[in-house]
Amino acid sequence: MFKKIDNSFAYSVLAGGPIINIFTIGKDGIEDGMTAAWSCPFDPDVLLVVIDKTHTTAKNIRETKKLVIALPTKEGIEDSLKLGSIHGRDDQNKLNKVKLERTENFNYPILKSSIAYFECELADENLFEDKGICLAKVQHVYVQEQYWDDKEQAFVPGCFNTIHHVAGSKFSFGGTVVE
Ligand SMILES: Cc1cc2nc3c(=O)[nH]c(=O)nc-3n(C[C@H](O)[C@H](O)[C@H](O)COP(=O)(O)O)c2cc1C
Repeated sequence: MFKKIDNSFAYSVLAGGPIINIFTIGKDGIEDGMTAAWSCPFDPDVLLVVIDKTHTTAKNIRETKKLVIALPTKEGIEDSLKLGSIHGRDDQNKLNKVKLERTENFNYPILKSSIAYFECELADENLFEDKGICLAKVQHVYVQEQYWDDKEQAFVPGCFNTIHHVAGSKFSFGGTVVE
C-alpha cells in the first residue's frame, strides 16, 4: 500500500545522486566550497547542479565561469556539513576548517577523502542567472585509481563509498549493485 506524503518532500523521495562538494574561487582570489544534494548528469560530459543564487558559490561561478565538483566519501561527512553550513561571504577562512588537497589542472581545492572530481566550466550563463541551474561542462574528470575498473568504465563493485543525503545531518552509504 502507498502512503501519501506532503508534496514538499518530493525531493527527499527522489533523493538518488551522491552528495557533492562544489569548489570555486572568487575574482578576489578567495577560495570557497559548498555541499549540494541536488545534482545529476545532463549530457555525457555535462553535469547539472542546482545552486541557490544567493550562495557565495553562485557569485564565484558568475565571476569566473569555473567550478570543481567533487564526490566526498564517508570520511568527508563532517567536512561536507561544515561546507554546507557556512557562507563564504560570512567566513573568508571557511576552507581552513576542512582537510584539503588540490586538483590537477585548475589547482582548485577539494576535500582530501574525495573519490572523484570534475574540473568544469559554466555552460549556460543565462540558465544559471535565470533559474540557478548550473550546467557544468566537464573539462577534466579524475577518479581514485584503486576504485575504477577500466574494462567496465565504472567504479568497482564494493567501493560505493559515496554518501547520499537522507535528511538533516543523516546520510546513507554502501549501496550494493545487483544484476
Ligand atoms: C547535505 C546538504 C545538501 C545541500 N544541498 C544544496 C543544494 O543542492 N543546493 C544548494 O544551493 N545548497 C545546498 N546546500 C546548502 C549549501 O551547501 C550551504 O548554504 C552553503 O553554506 C553555501 O555556501 P556558500 O555561500 O559559501 O556558497 C546543502 C547543504 C547541505 C548540508
